[in-house]
Amino acid sequence: MSRPLGLPVVRSSAFAFDNSHDYSEVLGGRKSGYSYSRIDNPTAVAFAAAVAALEAPGCDDVGAEPFGSGMAAISATLLGHLEAGDEVIAPAGCYGGTWSLLTRWLPRWGIHPVLIDITDAAAVRAAVTPRTRMIYAETIANPTLTVPDLPTLAQIAHQAGGRLVVDSTFATPVICRPLEHGADLVLHSATKFFGGHADATGGVAIGRSEHLGPVREARIDLGGCLAPDEAFLLHRGLQTLALRVARQCATAAVLADKLAGHPTVARVRYPGLPSHPQHGTARALFHDGLFGSLITVDVHGGRTGAMAFCDALRTVAIATSLGSVHSKVSHAASTTHRQLDDTALAAAGISPGQVRLSVGVEDPEELLADLRQAFDAGS
Ligand SMILES: Cc1ncc(COP(=O)(O)O)c(C=O)c1O
Repeated sequence: MSRPLGLPVVRSSAFAFDNSHDYSEVLGGRKSGYSYSRIDNPTAVAFAAAVAALEAPGCDDVGAEPFGSGMAAISATLLGHLEAGDEVIAPAGCYGGTWSLLTRWLPRWGIHPVLIDITDAAAVRAAVTPRTRMIYAETIANPTLTVPDLPTLAQIAHQAGGRLVVDSTFATPVICRPLEHGADLVLHSATKFFGGHADATGGVAIGRSEHLGPVREARIDLGGCLAPDEAFLLHRGLQTLALRVARQCATAAVLADKLAGHPTVARVRYPGLPSHPQHGTARALFHDGLFGSLITVDVHGGRTGAMAFCDALRTVAIATSLGSVHSKVSHAASTTHRQLDDTALAAAGISPGQVRLSVGVEDPEELLADLRQAFDAGS
């Protein structure tokens, strides 16, 4: 007997049954099987199962739901778990799309976001009210790269009778597995490191069935399903995830170290630097001395200086997204965090001159030379 080593792509939106009874049983969730790809598709299910195995190795009771994007996973999780009158404590500095969902959309449905610095445990405790149902965190925050103390947040959330939900896109399970630190649900934009080649969009939510159930229901009813072709690409990306992430982290650590001290650079933020405010937390939570492949640099000269720096880069692409094999740069205030006004940017810790560098798999010396020449052009 043999089996395909590559994941088969089941490009079918509907599945035919031998009889009407089975059709009704599968659609009603009483029997396992496939009926309609918005509900379940074999390729998408295989991708999600592979992610669950990475986030919770050996834990058969942990499952995953595949989504058509990271935002689809985040919105289904928030809407699946929260209702009118509930409060969610979330970081003032988080991905711009998440910030927009929290501040623009959730209040329309009577859900109140409390945006604070979630690395400050005392502030989080003080923000808890009888209506707190969720603490939402990013393992490594976009773009400030702060690292919250997940076990402490889990304890506060659970004492309040709520859940800890963690967007772990920047970390990947290669660096940190939040379920092992008390999180109830882990979310990813699979578009980033999982796909790894900037050619597929997807998302995933991982957790035990009591937490994942409402997320699955919201996915099915809101319609954020993952297409089979995207699932194939994302699943293929997982095969090289550990290799890519290790290489990207190693290069980022070298670059972060070398960039600090350049006259054009006001500040380098990288969880692996001893100067990072949560370096100790990162050491405690992250695996094998890996601190991520995102570096945030505050450039002298504010917005103009930052944009001039980006424009001078040659190897590093001016591009959105992150985590792929290509190195990319984004000026946070005008791109990924364009939804935030000046007050919200200041509360999030995003300076006008802040650029986010996503380190790829290129030759480290070539990247360093490119960054140096771009900084030199602005000094
Ligand atoms: C931390 C984080 N979470 C979620 C998302 C949203 O993911 P997607 O673009 O796949 O919807 C992003 C996108 O940049 C992100 O950086």
